[in-house]
Amino acid sequence: MEQNKNEMQLITTHICMTKDIGVHGNMFGGIMMAWIDEAASVMACRVCRTPNMVTLKLEESVFHKKVKVGFLILIYGRVHRIGNTSITLDIEARKRSVYSGDEEQVLVTRVTFVRIDEDGSPTPIANSVKEIYKKNE
Ligand SMILES: CC(C)(COP(=O)(O)OP(=O)(O)OC[C@H]1O[C@@H](n2cnc3c(N)ncnc32)[C@H](O)[C@@H]1OP(=O)(O)O)[C@@H](O)C(=O)NCCC(=O)NCCS
Repeated sequence: MEQNKNEMQLITTHICMTKDIGVHGNMFGGIMMAWIDEAASVMACRVCRTPNMVTLKLEESVFHKKVKVGFLILIYGRVHRIGNTSITLDIEARKRSVYSGDEEQVLVTRVTFVRIDEDGSPTPIANSVKEIYKKNE
């Protein structure tokens, strides 16, 4: 998951199935939020080189476009900031047509994770990780 700070990286891909649809025929927002949290968590753990990351904060999430059955949902991320114990990621969900390959932004948000120790208390992210991202600032 190195290293160009400005480049969005593909983290996960899903397909919107009938089980993901809510009462209005569109994809249910709560499922999308779970996919966002999962993808962001994957990226936070990969970047910080530890499985011990917990979600602290999900910023404003606006559903700009509806998603229907059969669309692919691609979740992209990039590092916004690395602090002492926390990392904040820019996360973007796009829907992709399997026919044309066109991608359209569905949701953009920012998610913060904190590295925790065995007691669940915040603990510093490794200096080697911080150094990598400092170089890109
Ligand atoms: C995440 C958790 C360990 C943080 O513990 P805490 O004692 O509140 O944390 P601290 O005040 O020491 O802050 C830790 C980091 O979070 C950052 N932080 C705290 N509140 C913040 C906020 N509102 N927005 C952004 N960052 C914030 C701090 O700046 C610090 O980052 P830094 O070390 O990089 O500067 C604790 O709140 C927790 O366990 N939350 C539940 C996590 C969880 O279960 N998530 C799943 C949700 S279902």
